[in-house]
Amino acid sequence: MSPNEATNNMAAYKFWKTQPVPKFDGKDDIQQGPIKIIDPDETPKDPYPLLDGFEWVTLDLTEDNNVVELYNLLSTHYVEDGEGEFRLNYSPAFLRWALTSPGWQKEWHVGVRASKSKKLTAFISGVPTKIRAHDQTVQVVEINFLCIHKKLRSKRLAPLLIKEITRRCYLKGIYQAVYTAAVVLPTPIASYRYFHRPLNWLKLYEAGFAFLPLNSTTGRQVAKYHLPRNTSIPGLRALRESDLDALQHLLEQYLARFDVSPKFTKDEIRHWLFHEEKKGVEQVVWSYVVEDAQTQKLTDFFSFYSLESSVTSHSKHDKIRTAYLYYYASAFSSTEDGLEARLEILINDALIVAKKADFDVFNALNLQDNALFLEKLRFMNGSGELNYYLFNYRMPPVRDAQEKNLPLMGRRGGVGIVLV
Ligand SMILES: CC(C)(COP(=O)(O)OP(=O)(O)OC[C@H]1O[C@@H](n2cnc3c(N)ncnc32)[C@H](O)[C@@H]1OP(=O)(O)O)[C@@H](O)C(=O)NCCC(=O)NCCS
Repeated sequence: MSPNEATNNMAAYKFWKTQPVPKFDGKDDIQQGPIKIIDPDETPKDPYPLLDGFEWVTLDLTEDNNVVELYNLLSTHYVEDGEGEFRLNYSPAFLRWALTSPGWQKEWHVGVRASKSKKLTAFISGVPTKIRAHDQTVQVVEINFLCIHKKLRSKRLAPLLIKEITRRCYLKGIYQAVYTAAVVLPTPIASYRYFHRPLNWLKLYEAGFAFLPLNSTTGRQVAKYHLPRNTSIPGLRALRESDLDALQHLLEQYLARFDVSPKFTKDEIRHWLFHEEKKGVEQVVWSYVVEDAQTQKLTDFFSFYSLESSVTSHSKHDKIRTAYLYYYASAFSSTEDGLEARLEILINDALIVAKKADFDVFNALNLQDNALFLEKLRFMNGSGELNYYLFNYRMPPVRDAQEKNLPLMGRRGGVGIVLV
């Protein structure tokens, strides 16, 4: 269902219609800012009552056993594709990375346990950050990893988890949030689709992720997605810690293109984008920069993160290794024509790096400037959708810079935030 089809259907959202989120009809006063002014004194000091037989728990993700408990819940009950053939499999290292970003609060790692068995049966999390929405900076919490055990579904536990984390954020003085969901809720600020670029087409085919077009052969498909062995841009190299100041500057300039973007501090850039080689530490994020040989300045940057999918159907493969396009930037953004050509070779190099690192597929949404290169770099149109939301904040509509997935030269807009 698209947001348009859902128009005027607020009444169907029994929980969301009670929350400070924009209505579908867009008739709210569109002056930008909070929808409801929160009085911290009116925020309940105790957790909301839970279903009988269950209790709240605050996970401590500095403890390995807590991370493993969360991993066990998510790896069996988190997001699946429509047919249930593939399920996202966030590794313990990924979960720790995603949930302990600068300023993280233990209280915002909210779980539900079965009182008797103490088994973790539901979870929701938040991490603090700042975003820019048009010309305003907003302190928000990024909500993620909402998950309920399959046996506890449809019991209205999701609204309780959302209310509980909202309460805990209000108590810390944060009244706005950003989140994404495949489902349509009141009311997306923008909606995007997933695109997939096969790196190992044969494996994807054998795992049931890619299909053989009627008029093609496996050999032709493999050839279609073949990539050169080596990257093409001179000066491309892995991000170093000494690059972080320059990278912050490059990213800030680039992200200004979008209506909504992160406002990264240097610590956040280090956390989200810099992988420090340490023995035994699993790599979650890959970041590369282009350094100009003459000026020694950084001209470009790309990053992707690693997230496996479990193959739940019978297949000779049980995992698909997926690279997800994350943040990127180019100093070539001052001219739209130059940018399009540059992004094409930059992201093609990202595909080559990912292929070398043994990923099977490279995923991207059609947000940021991705519409400028998705088709040319042979990304396939996927079936997944992702809607972006702001909680307790309204803003004039995000401009649709990628209508019909075609690049609209000279126009800027859209969402520049990528949530992991
Ligand atoms: C998403 C999930 C937690 C919902 O749980 P559920 O048991 O189906 O739903 P409940 O009966 O507890 O609650 C239903 C309410 O939650 C809302 N809801 C459902 N999914 C939601 C989501 N992803 N984000 C916010 N609200 C959501 C529904 O719209 C409904 O509210 P409404 O009456 O206003 O429409 C559960 O299906 C799940 O764990 N799925 C797998 C993981 C997943 O998809 N997580 C979400 C990632 S964005």
